[in-house]
Amino acid sequence: MLVLGIESSCDETAAALVEDGRRLVANAVASQVPIHARYGGVVPELASRAHIVDIVPVVQRCLDEAGLGLAEIDAIAVTAGPGLVGSLLVGTEFAKSLASVLEIPLVGVNHIEGHLMAPFLDYDGPERISGTPDFPFLGLVVSGGHSHLFHARGVGDYELVGATRDDAAGEAYDKVAKMIGLPYPGGLYIDRAAKSGNPTAIRFPRALPQKDSYEFSFSGLKTSVLNHVRKNGTPPHDSAEFADLCASFQEAVVDVLVTKTFRKARELGVQHVVISGGVSANSRLRERALQVASSNGVSVHIPPIALCTDNAAMIASLGWHYLADKPRRFDAWALNARSSMKMGPPAS
Ligand code: KG4
Ligand code: ZN
Repeated sequence: MLVLGIESSCDETAAALVEDGRRLVANAVASQVPIHARYGGVVPELASRAHIVDIVPVVQRCLDEAGLGLAEIDAIAVTAGPGLVGSLLVGTEFAKSLASVLEIPLVGVNHIEGHLMAPFLDYDGPERISGTPDFPFLGLVVSGGHSHLFHARGVGDYELVGATRDDAAGEAYDKVAKMIGLPYPGGLYIDRAAKSGNPTAIRFPRALPQKDSYEFSFSGLKTSVLNHVRKNGTPPHDSAEFADLCASFQEAVVDVLVTKTFRKARELGVQHVVISGGVSANSRLRERALQVASSNGVSVHIPPIALCTDNAAMIASLGWHYLADKPRRFDAWALNARSSMKMGPPAS
């Protein structure tokens, strides 16, 4: 079964073709980074307008890459939430129209669940870590909008066991980057700048260190960086002090994410840890996760970089599970922009 995935929840317009939920046939993404870069974050109105411009060319690019036509698509899966309402609407309305014209089933899926299941795709990008996980696993989804820990027992069977009280990890990266004059998306630029820095140069705080707490909090860390640069100024971008500042901030984020994730995995007795979402592209997070996993005797699974940040392959793959179960028509689901949007099979 060939599923076309459509993703437009934030600032990437994406289309992908996935066969039987696993095999990635084609993957196309139009990034809006140049549009939002000078604002230091995503501007919702500009995002929805760019989705309108990009959606048809991106789907066409995806079909061209696969050498296939619309007639070969068996079903469509689209991100139905959470996300920016105007952005989501572009993808969902496009998907409804296309499914209606082609007379094929359509399923709306949860974006966070898409990230969580991304390591199941058979796509061996160079940076894929450890292949496909087994259930049950502990999943950390860290992106611009979410820092969630899930105990995943099967497709559609998840328990939320931790989340952030305030900023998401990616949001903290983006805000700190803006503070110190780095462009959007901040995570990528801080990651690069931190490579030559000393992560112990400045001791930034680790929030909620209690052993039984699986909540995250990044706003105190952000304020701490702000106080530091107010007091000391922002060092020149090409200086060793700047690399140290980036590396020290990054270490505080990664330390908390890795410590809490692997502690929870131990507590639950699970053998597999999944890390996904835009921040899972981070080189230090990957390095630390691999170290801690090997010393704990568990395996860690992280998608290749192209499937960490927003993409439609994870949406097509997840959608297939629900379509394969019970094919649904597009009137069986509704758009839901809230982060409380239900995960698992769509309500019929
Ligand atoms: O999953 P994603 O593409 O979109 C959302 O669902 O939010 O994640 C975007 C986030 C941004 O905050 C960006 O700064 C962060 O992922 N990010 C990174 C890296 N690459 C992207 N954070 C840390 N290190 C990176 N290498
Ligand atoms: Zn995302």
